[in-house]
Amino acid sequence: MDPLDMTDWPRPLERPRRLRRTANLRRMARETRLHTDNLIAPLFVTAGEGVQEEISSMPRQYRFSIDTLVEEAAELHDLGIPAIALFPAIPDAQKDATASAATDPSGLYPQAIDALKTELPELLVITDTALDPYSSDGHDGVVRDGQIANDATVDIMRDIAVLHAEMGADLIAPSDMMDGRVRAIRAALDANGFTGTGILSYTAKYASAYYGPFRDALDSAPRKRGDVPAGKDTYQMDPANSDEALRELRLDLEEGADLVMVKPALPYLDVIHRVKQHADVPVAAYNVSGEYAMIHAAAQNGWLDLRAGATEALTSIRRAGADVILTYFAKRMARWLAE
Ligand code: PBG
Repeated sequence: MDPLDMTDWPRPLERPRRLRRTANLRRMARETRLHTDNLIAPLFVTAGEGVQEEISSMPRQYRFSIDTLVEEAAELHDLGIPAIALFPAIPDAQKDATASAATDPSGLYPQAIDALKTELPELLVITDTALDPYSSDGHDGVVRDGQIANDATVDIMRDIAVLHAEMGADLIAPSDMMDGRVRAIRAALDANGFTGTGILSYTAKYASAYYGPFRDALDSAPRKRGDVPAGKDTYQMDPANSDEALRELRLDLEEGADLVMVKPALPYLDVIHRVKQHADVPVAAYNVSGEYAMIHAAAQNGWLDLRAGATEALTSIRRAGADVILTYFAKRMARWLAE
């Protein structure tokens, strides 16, 4: 048969390629867009002055002392990023079994919140209320008889949340997955007059391998010692579950969460999608350290293009239904979006 003779096959009635023909057509027809308004930058704070140490497993991410942290935050603010999420790197000598450094008002973290809110009052500061950065066991809760003690942990988290609110935190973000902590934190905030301080709950946080570089950054991996469990799977969710994310969502909404979060993001796009369909509050997704490290590692090997890879990853998280994204790409993406 003559290959140019095409008369005998049914021509397509629709031709979707017409809308892909030129850059302007594609731009006009685009369904999902990244915007700096939707990006939250995680930042790490450490003791000292003039410190800016790069984290080896997270290229271009640093542990900052409070002075350099404020400079970095000012840059992010100037780029139009609305919020930062703050995490502390605490020296081992200050860690103990009950994470007592977490509730010290003169400690590194409260002082960092205070400096940020004094110098950059408009920039939103999201504070983390889990025990692991301060725990000698590397767990998000206190360990009793080889178990992570839920209610004793929540008691401590109430005090941490109130301290953060006193220092000016805009949103309290419990990242621990203890049961009932959102209601307990809400009650503690209200009882102390902080009715305007919001809660961004880590609603569906999975027991994930992708937190590896973050635990390097804070030296906060669970320590195997005596009867201390080596993993976080008695409180973080099983990666195999998705109905359970909706149960956690229902509870967090009942308990008073102002925003809910799915974490990690890329391996859980289906969970983000389901949570978005059932939530009547904004949905956040955390594009975690391992997701960032993977893309960087591949780009460093010349195996993919960093900008295109990061843009595609963050776009997919938005397309799945996330309203806001916590991402270590925030600063570079804000720059790319402004070009
Ligand atoms: C701990 C916490 C973790 C992350 C944020 N808060 C690690 C963990 O649960 O072990 C991970 C963030 C990242 O990997 O980027 N409360």
